[in-house]
Amino acid sequence: MSKGKVLLCLYRGGQHAHQVKGLLGCVENELGIRKYIESKGYELVSTDSKDPIGSSEVDKHLKDAEVVITTPFYPAYITKERMAKAPNLKICVTAGVGSDHVDLNAANEHGITVTEVTGSNVVSVSEHAVMTILDLVRNFVPAHEQAVSKGWDIAGAAMNSYDLEGKTVATVGAGRIGYRILERLIAFNPKKLYYYDYQGLSKELVDRLNKASEVLNGRGDIVERVENLEDMLGKSDVVTINAPLHEKTKGLFNKELISKMKDGAWLVNTARGAICVAEDVAEALESGKLRGYGGDVWNVQPAPDNHPWRTMRNQFGGGNAMTPHISGTSLDAQARYSAGVQNILESYFSGKHDYRPQDVIVSGGRYATKSYGERNDGK
Ligand code: NAI
Repeated sequence: MSKGKVLLCLYRGGQHAHQVKGLLGCVENELGIRKYIESKGYELVSTDSKDPIGSSEVDKHLKDAEVVITTPFYPAYITKERMAKAPNLKICVTAGVGSDHVDLNAANEHGITVTEVTGSNVVSVSEHAVMTILDLVRNFVPAHEQAVSKGWDIAGAAMNSYDLEGKTVATVGAGRIGYRILERLIAFNPKKLYYYDYQGLSKELVDRLNKASEVLNGRGDIVERVENLEDMLGKSDVVTINAPLHEKTKGLFNKELISKMKDGAWLVNTARGAICVAEDVAEALESGKLRGYGGDVWNVQPAPDNHPWRTMRNQFGGGNAMTPHISGTSLDAQARYSAGVQNILESYFSGKHDYRPQDVIVSGGRYATKSYGERNDGK
């Protein structure tokens, strides 16, 4: 007789699951935590069957699950309706960062704790975001496609290729990932780095960036906070989105907000797909309002075959630097978030609930972080 059920929902690894030992994030390898969970007297059920909501394996096991572990890369949406059918559910653990696939308000109503492994993949994502910025600005993808298809149209690739040096780059959200992107961009000697975030960076963090620019570029004073989002968008060549998905960011980049961006700007989103309106982004790319769009997050995951972001192109036949949701699940990141999930479970199983404070998103019916909206009321 087990003490309770732990439900784990991850993407399928297939043949790759056995090919690479470190591929911990797939359902076959179970984050490497089966033995640990069983040693605590709990039963572990692992599945990649999360859809359709109502008749998947997730639904079948949620009924008596006490712990649910899911990943943003292949999210089992823990909706209000699902929670209502999960009377034993006490804690949702995100294997990674970003817990918007859990209805956080409903979790508060049900007194369910939601945790994630904060910081586990912030380097991975910031590297991916910088790579995507370079891919777009340098027009890498169409040039690469030529290389592998035996093409040699230099003009065709060069006509939409620029240097990042001297460009203005802005981030919406300057938390762990946004800040790391700014840090990495200094080396490219941009004209200016802007950030928009209701939580301002400390003077110490801003000084660090400016000092790095002084050393590398001979110019300090490179970072500036902008209080008004539209003002920032109007003067930025590249915009990168690094805020969580919540009520105020859902659909934020719609046709209207995109119209405030500079003509021909590049937009990179490795935060959450639903922060952008998919059709509006595709239309902006096709009309030339945006020169490029890239990232790895989609409003529905896995994205359907006919998702506009799969096929959208700018007038030069490029400008699309999308990947499946992979930025935060490098093998290094998988090792970190698997260990982080085990730490969270240890705090839970021990009954101490002494989680790392930064890992707790909601607990005891309240928001424990300010990152999911300006919730200074603690709700
Ligand atoms: P963080 O909590 O350290 O930083 C988020 C920042 O966004 C905070 O400073 C917050 O004040 C700010 N913010 C919130 N709402 C905002 C708004 N409306 N406008 C401007 N700023 C706003 O989080 P971290 O670690 O930097 O991650 C950010 C997000 O990136 C996650 O919530 C997740 O959605 C996404 N992410 C994506 C991954 C991927 O694999 N593509 C992996 C990890 C995170």
